[in-house]
Amino acid sequence: MASRVYDCLALIGARITENRDFLTDLDREIGDADHGANMARGFAAVVEKVPRDNPDIGAALKKTGMTLLSTVGGASGPLYGTAYMEAAKVLSGCETLTAQGFAEALSAAVAGIQKRGKSVRGEKTMLDALIPALEAYTARIDAGGSLPDALDDACAAADEGVAYTRTIAATKGRASYLGERSIGHQDPGATSAAITLGAIRDFIKE
Ligand SMILES: Nc1ncnc2c1ncn2[C@@H]1O[C@H](COP(=O)(O)OP(=O)(O)OP(=O)(O)O)[C@@H](O)[C@H]1O
Ligand SMILES: [Mg+2]
Repeated sequence: MASRVYDCLALIGARITENRDFLTDLDREIGDADHGANMARGFAAVVEKVPRDNPDIGAALKKTGMTLLSTVGGASGPLYGTAYMEAAKVLSGCETLTAQGFAEALSAAVAGIQKRGKSVRGEKTMLDALIPALEAYTARIDAGGSLPDALDDACAAADEGVAYTRTIAATKGRASYLGERSIGHQDPGATSAAITLGAIRDFIKE
């Protein structure tokens, strides 16, 4: 039987693949039309390479990060690769996901992306979905909320963050070449980040 973490990664992969053309079309507007293809290729490799029956969440996330790093390419491969590998360090040896564990893993993932990408909030990147999601998640947990409730808040904040990327100019990555002309377009990486969180939420609430 496949482990829970494997099944969750498979759901993330399925959602990314369903949205491949959408993500690529977003990247066509402000980039080089490869984000959906990059991410779908990466997750096809993830479901092949991550061991199906190992319940260690950290081990699965580490393999995911290494696989994304070597198969996705572009800007997003190293960034998502780093995110999963940093989350893996936090959840090494864990077989069940707690509300606090997810908070620490998401926080480490965000910090890893910021360091690797030399990027901050407000630059029209995946961070504009992930940082508000982390803040909303943490606020709900601190108020005594459960993991599923906090994930609901995180997803709502991520979706708002995605909408916000339409209103700002890109200052990082390929889209930054367009400067002000990137305004009005939704960031593909923020979109794939929100899709990822949505898949995790739906998996946990199943
Ligand atoms: N420095 C950065 N920090 C955080 N996110 C970034 C950064 N640069 C790019 N991104 C994210 O990566 C997404 C683009 O990913 P994609 O897979 O299309 O790579 P790419 O930009 O085409 O790579 P390359 O330009 O190297 O070919 C953007 O939408 C943005 O969210
Ligand atoms: Mg691209």
